[in-house]
Amino acid sequence: MVDELLSRNREWAASQCRENPHYFQDFTKGQQPEFFWIGCSDSRVPANVIAKQGPGEVFVHRNIANVVHSSDLNLLSALEFAVNNLGILKVLVCGHYGCGGVRASMESHDHGLADHWLEPVRRLGVKHREELALLEDDDARQNRLAELNVIEGVIRLSETPILRNAWERGIPIRVHGLVYNLGDGLLRDLECTATQPLLSGLR
Ligand code: CO
Repeated sequence: MVDELLSRNREWAASQCRENPHYFQDFTKGQQPEFFWIGCSDSRVPANVIAKQGPGEVFVHRNIANVVHSSDLNLLSALEFAVNNLGILKVLVCGHYGCGGVRASMESHDHGLADHWLEPVRRLGVKHREELALLEDDDARQNRLAELNVIEGVIRLSETPILRNAWERGIPIRVHGLVYNLGDGLLRDLECTATQPLLSGLR
């Protein structure tokens, strides 16, 4: 029942007001988030919670398996707004171990529309099949592919006209690749940070 959810919401709003009577008034003035988070839709990987950020601190885009499609209008509109309107300088692509989307991309049976969505991840798995074959089991292969998918996402973002143009204007945006471990709650930096177009460099 949604009543339970509404009741929890009222409890939360009341407790925030008890701590700071002006808490909600500040949000009506606008937002100035520091981070743009691109993550997986998985319910176990909520951006604000795991990064310990409150409302107003993270601008978020999530989709199945945190895929960066170069023609995804949803992601690109959010990226453009984050960069050009919010002035965000820190973009985070966050994947996670145990990702069902990544797992689906490695399975041969039909997953419906998800198979269309996950096509870039499947292709990435094929591209890196020799490296993946050396790993001990399917879980290890899926977790490595989750990392490779993040790195690919950072590369693709770095080649978008939105970021290319921002870098050409001298805006010091950094795109970081992170992976989250469901088993211990820790984020790890994959050290694939982009500060310019990674494939082609600046013109
Ligand atoms: Co996932």
